[in-house]
Amino acid sequence: MENDLRAGEQAVAPPASTDAGLVFIGRIRTPWTARSECPRQGAVDGPVCTIEVFDPWIEALHGIAQYPTLEILYWMNQSRRDLVRQNPANDDRVRGTFALRSPIRPNPIATSIVRLERVENGRLHVRGLDCVDGTPLLDIKPDRKCFTPPVVDIDAVTSRS
Ligand SMILES: C[S@@+](CC[C@H](N)C(=O)[O-])C[C@H]1O[C@@H](n2cnc3c(N)ncnc32)[C@H](O)[C@@H]1O
Repeated sequence: MENDLRAGEQAVAPPASTDAGLVFIGRIRTPWTARSECPRQGAVDGPVCTIEVFDPWIEALHGIAQYPTLEILYWMNQSRRDLVRQNPANDDRVRGTFALRSPIRPNPIATSIVRLERVENGRLHVRGLDCVDGTPLLDIKPDRKCFTPPVVDIDAVTSRS
């Protein structure tokens, strides 16, 4: 039922081959067991969810606790991937996939800005997610609003040119 086409929706035959290989670096634990239970977008005052990072990527969390907010990228593994036009359930207007934040997309990558509550043993406890329990984790980045890039070494840059 959740994958049935609605009025005005259009599916295409997706290409058979893949261009990129992704590695699932962890798993997201949430209170929601079905897509229909999830919020449409996470809220930073929503329930605490747990991001479990797998070995050998736990080392890559070093320094993350200094960031109050993070950007999480995850893989919407229950989505169909072949729609170019969609008719969202909450808004009866057909629009192109790239004009929506729907999880149905050729590469079902979702992003959320989350509030980091605490870090313990390779687990991040956060608020602000909107995915089903067990959703695969793709990446974690500091929220760009909090991130200060390392100072560029101007001498090194100019000596190269
Ligand atoms: C509208 S998307 C927004 C995702 C992300 N915040 C974004 O903007 O990229 C969130 C919805 O995706 C659906 N969803 C959640 N987990 C999913 C999964 N593992 N696979 C497919 N769909 C999922 C639920 O219906 C949820 O309400």
